[in-house]
Amino acid sequence: MSYREMLDTPCLVVFDDVLEQNLTEMASYARAHGLALRPHIKTHKTAEITRRQAELGAVGHTCAKLGEAEALADAGVLHDVLIAYEIVGEAKIRRLLNLMERVHVTVAVDSVAVAEPLSRAMQAAGTVLDVLLEIDAGLGRAGVLPGEPALRLAREVVQMPGLRLRGLMTHEGHAGRAADTAELERLGRAAGEAMVATAELLRRSGIPVEVVSVGSTPAAFVTTAVPGITEMRPGTYVFYDAASFRFGRIGPERCALRILTTVISRPAPDRAILDAGSKTLAMDPPPPGRHGHGYLVECPDAVITRLNEEHAFVQLPPHCQGLQVGDRVEVIPNHVCPVVNLQDELFVVRDGDVVATWRVLARGKVR
Ligand SMILES: Cc1ncc(COP(=O)(O)O)c(C=O)c1O
Repeated sequence: MSYREMLDTPCLVVFDDVLEQNLTEMASYARAHGLALRPHIKTHKTAEITRRQAELGAVGHTCAKLGEAEALADAGVLHDVLIAYEIVGEAKIRRLLNLMERVHVTVAVDSVAVAEPLSRAMQAAGTVLDVLLEIDAGLGRAGVLPGEPALRLAREVVQMPGLRLRGLMTHEGHAGRAADTAELERLGRAAGEAMVATAELLRRSGIPVEVVSVGSTPAAFVTTAVPGITEMRPGTYVFYDAASFRFGRIGPERCALRILTTVISRPAPDRAILDAGSKTLAMDPPPPGRHGHGYLVECPDAVITRLNEEHAFVQLPPHCQGLQVGDRVEVIPNHVCPVVNLQDELFVVRDGDVVATWRVLARGKVR
């Protein structure tokens, strides 16, 4: 029986051959360009893919939250992690110290206010924590600005006992929101150049910089083309999603994850209702140039116009009105990471059969 009949819906299906292609392509790129690959686990949150990435040569992994790293360390698959996030508060610092006993940990810092309590705690524990300065290379999220502001912070951090400044990191996520490929390339390159120029400024001032780390799937092959970048941290590339189509490098055939869903109502010729609402598809908006809450594989011209918690409203063009109650259809989500976070498991399909079930074990680990 094919997975489409066998699985109950809504559920997440991962096509193993496509996943393998995506993992291998990025690993080969990193190897060919002498870059350390440190994938972000935010997209898959599974032990199985964490392990596979390491087997393909990843130097370690990236997590946003301590809880994600703890879950993967408990599963025995995490050995070296960058927590690409500011660790703030005593409870978190205690957990960080515990994690450091099991895994090599590096954390991001973007201010003295974040770095000082870490320094005090490491001194008290008699240990040393590796840190990267988080640089705001255009996203406008956390991070110190490149150039002189980064140098000022670096000068303070290198003086702090218990901390070892290893280098710089940024998430150039703003490049992925560019209007077109030319803008993506301009923003990605500018982010990479700002990182490398800042690294050189620090080095000229006597501060060693070993790591210059960037991370974004849309800009993965752009930012890392700037000489001097040492590490890449893509996340979404494992599955890709509808937001990934817009620059034309990949299409729906490279999306390794789809939501399998059932038509549960046909209230009008031009409307179908699916059993996957906002609790499954998540609420991320479509990328510029596309409409609706996902890409319906069986009818790309259909538009998922609205979501209730458990219902998707699908507007069907005339050539797709043959859908009937009980039919199964597949949706590529606009943004795959929050969709994975909503499910307990991923069903892995090879040659049409379900060959494995993977637990999304780092889901919901927001602390
Ligand atoms: C700090 C950091 N690094 C890397 C990534 C990976 O980016 P992408 O999902 O575009 O591959 C993210 C994504 O949010 C991030 O926040």
